[in-house]
Amino acid sequence: MKGGGEKAGLIIAVDGPSGAGKSTITKALADRLGYVHIDTGAMFRAVALTALRAGVDGSDDEGLARLCASLEIAFARTNGCCRVMANGEDVTDAIRTPEISLLTSTISARKVVRDFLLEVQRRMGRAGGVILEGRDIGTVVFPDADVKFFLTASVEERGRRRWLELAARGEQLTLAETIAAVARRDEQDSGREHAPLRRAADAVDVDSTGLSIDEVLDRMETIVREKERLLAMARQ
Ligand code: DC
Repeated sequence: MKGGGEKAGLIIAVDGPSGAGKSTITKALADRLGYVHIDTGAMFRAVALTALRAGVDGSDDEGLARLCASLEIAFARTNGCCRVMANGEDVTDAIRTPEISLLTSTISARKVVRDFLLEVQRRMGRAGGVILEGRDIGTVVFPDADVKFFLTASVEERGRRRWLELAARGEQLTLAETIAAVARRDEQDSGREHAPLRRAADAVDVDSTGLSIDEVLDRMETIVREKERLLAMARQ
């Protein structure tokens, strides 16, 4: 788990609240660096989908434990992009429904699920050359990550982005309602008992409010390249 050793590359943690642009940014940064992108939110979603299909309640810890014990989650990379696989089935699209988002929020608060995914995430990431995006990567999953980013944007900006997404899908919420919903979800993610959303003390803050994607990427890439250079020098 220690960063900087004889790995294929660095371990990079990107945490932050919903709507900060984490997925877009981490995917693009992984492409720039030639790193593997690990979307840990998708892993929680895959557990939620499997639970829903199996009729396991989001608060049934024994049922969830059994389900996790027989669940294999993987990322398949076809044409450079990543499909989420649960027991061999491509669930990439099925995990993106509002119903699954809601259930994921519940099951991601269960310790039994977090413990299971903690191991899976560490196994996937420990070889290095990876960017993991989530809520507790820099604080819990890889507290020794080589580079940690805390990516955020103002609640108004995140609400506005979400509102545009919803409007494009034909959903009819007002901007004010959407901003309030984002603020509520922040509170839920930050207030839960297990692995709440928290900025690691040694994370680099990146506030994407008013910045273009490329501006954010340039900043992050510069920091990663510098770290790669320092570690390469230290190894000589
Ligand atoms: O990033 P996302 O919207 O796909 O995340 C889905 C849910 O999973 C969200 O409610 C937060 C939770 N999550 C988590 O608790 N820990 C992570 N490392 C990633 C996501």
